[in-house]
Amino acid sequence: MEAPYNFKFSLYLFLLYALHVTNMAYTNKTTMLCQDHERSALLHFKRSLSASSHSSAYLKTASWRARGNSSNNCCSWDGVECDDASGFVIGLDLSSSLLHATLQSNSALFSLVHLQNLNLAENNFMNSLIPTEISHLLNLSFLNLSFSSFSGQVPLELSRMCKLTSLDLSNNYLHGGFPIAVFNLPGLLVLNVSGNQNLSGYLPEFNQTSPIRELDIAWTNFSGNIPASIGNLRSLTRLRLRNCYFSGSFPPSIGNLTQLTYLSVASNMFSTSGDLPWLQKLTKLTVLNLDDTSLYGNIPPSIANLTELTVLSLSNNPFNRSRNLSWLGKLTKLTFLDLQNSNLYGDIPPSLAN
Ligand SMILES: *[C@@H]1O[C@H](CO)[C@@H](O)[C@H](O)[C@H]1NC(C)=O
Ligand SMILES: *[C@@H]1O[C@H](CO)[C@@H](O)[C@H](O)[C@H]1NC(C)=O
Ligand SMILES: *[C@@H]1O[C@H](CO)[C@@H](O)[C@H](O)[C@H]1NC(C)=O
Ligand SMILES: *[C@@H]1O[C@H](CO)[C@@H](O)[C@H](O)[C@H]1NC(C)=O
Ligand SMILES: *[C@@H]1O[C@H](CO)[C@@H](O)[C@H](O)[C@H]1NC(C)=O
Ligand SMILES: *[C@@H]1O[C@H](CO)[C@@H](O)[C@H](O)[C@H]1NC(C)=O
Ligand SMILES: *[C@@H]1O[C@H](CO)[C@@H](O)[C@H](O)[C@H]1NC(C)=O
Ligand SMILES: *[C@@H]1O[C@H](CO)[C@@H](O)[C@H](O)[C@H]1NC(C)=O
Ligand SMILES: *[C@@H]1O[C@H](CO)[C@@H](O)[C@H](O)[C@H]1NC(C)=O
Ligand SMILES: *[C@@H]1O[C@H](CO)[C@@H](O)[C@H](O)[C@H]1NC(C)=O
Ligand SMILES: *[C@@H]1O[C@H](CO)[C@@H](O)[C@H](O)[C@H]1NC(C)=O
Ligand SMILES: *[C@@H]1O[C@H](CO)[C@@H](O)[C@H](O)[C@H]1NC(C)=O
Repeated sequence: MEAPYNFKFSLYLFLLYALHVTNMAYTNKTTMLCQDHERSALLHFKRSLSASSHSSAYLKTASWRARGNSSNNCCSWDGVECDDASGFVIGLDLSSSLLHATLQSNSALFSLVHLQNLNLAENNFMNSLIPTEISHLLNLSFLNLSFSSFSGQVPLELSRMCKLTSLDLSNNYLHGGFPIAVFNLPGLLVLNVSGNQNLSGYLPEFNQTSPIRELDIAWTNFSGNIPASIGNLRSLTRLRLRNCYFSGSFPPSIGNLTQLTYLSVASNMFSTSGDLPWLQKLTKLTVLNLDDTSLYGNIPPSIANLTELTVLSLSNNPFNRSRNLSWLGKLTKLTFLDLQNSNLYGDIPPSLAN
């Protein structure tokens, strides 16, 4: 009488187990599979790329296929990242994919509204405008369009993308006026628009609440003064303003940017005394480039306080003549020094011999 009971019990356990496994499989499946409409948006996007393309050499989208085996799941496609729980596409990294195509304003890309990271850097978008529709991606936090041959006006709509933390538009052909409101995006940590020769703009009044860490505007047509409120950017570690058309003098409030490790303001049209008392507060600086900034007067003795410097460049400035370079003696970490055409000449202190 007991055998059948045991048998039933075993069967019961087995069924429980099977149900459990099925459940797990089901759970895994629903959490891993991408959404149908997002898969078809990606395939649309892929088709639009090849339709306008002059090359079929796609490094990443080549693997994007809808039929057959597991490749139906777009979460497993190259460059695609899905949210673990919802399966929504939250990341798309097509950087350096040899894309050679235009980006249309009706691109299916802009229907991937859950995107948080979008990287299209190092491709050739053939002088496409950055479509204003990019602002449909309201959850976008990271946008990288550097080295990708975009051209024209930077859309004002970027300044509505409140979740942006990193915006890299460097080395394109953008031009016209940069939408200044982008500087005041509340969570922006990185802004890089360098290497856009004809991109015009000016620095706004900066807000004390700005968490920005890296600001790079080098090699653009930005002009005007550096506002004193730049001293509000207390989290700034890298500031690169070289080769623009800035004028006026350096606001002493730059001395409040005590987290700076990299400061380059070379090749602008400043007219400012070389006596920069605020410089000594920037003790974390490893790179200081003041080339060609029309600095006059005496070299600031306080430069000797910047003992972390590895790169110091002061060339092409009309400093007062000086033969006393003893201040250099403290900068024992220097690996690069340029004093050409700065009226500074004399014996290099022996402590720099290494
Ligand atoms: C479900 O996924 C987890 C982690 O990815 C894995 O450990 C587990 O074996 C999977 N379960 C089944 C039934 O495939
Ligand atoms: C999926 O199918 C494609 C062709 O349809 C094939 O190239 C690919 O290797 C297959 N992948 C796997 C993991 O079997
Ligand atoms: C955007 O992010 C918020 C907060 O993380 C989330 O609640 C919302 O569903 C996201 N929207 C989309 C379209 O993914
Ligand atoms: C953007 O992409 C380029 C090229 O891959 C890379 O060098 C750069 O660091 C990226 N920018 C950011 C802010 O991550
Ligand atoms: C500073 O930024 C905060 C948050 O973005 C905003 O509420 C405030 O109005 C801004 N203040 C100024 C003077 O722009
Ligand atoms: C910038 O503008 C100048 C003059 O308008 C033009 O000659 C040059 O080709 C432009 N450069 C770029 C990169 O668009
Ligand atoms: C550069 O900026 C100045 C001042 O804003 C402007 O007058 C000039 O047209 C700009 N040049 C280009 C090529 O955009
Ligand atoms: C900005 O981008 C350029 C080129 O992509 C890069 O060389 C530079 O280091 C970046 N700036 C910062 C502050 O990272
Ligand atoms: C910021 O810089 C200004 C100008 O040098 C100075 O007056 C002010 O005290 C500084 N603020 C702080 C908090 O260091
Ligand atoms: C340095 O140059 C300024 C003018 O640029 C001059 O007024 C000053 O007297 C000079 N200082 C010394 C110590 O030579
Ligand atoms: C700079 O160095 C001098 C002496 O070398 C010292 O008296 C001064 O306090 C230092 N300044 C800072 C801000 O560390
Ligand atoms: C060089 O300048 C330092 C202060 O910066 C001074 O202590 C030293 O005496 C000067 N040396 C000569 C030879 O004038």
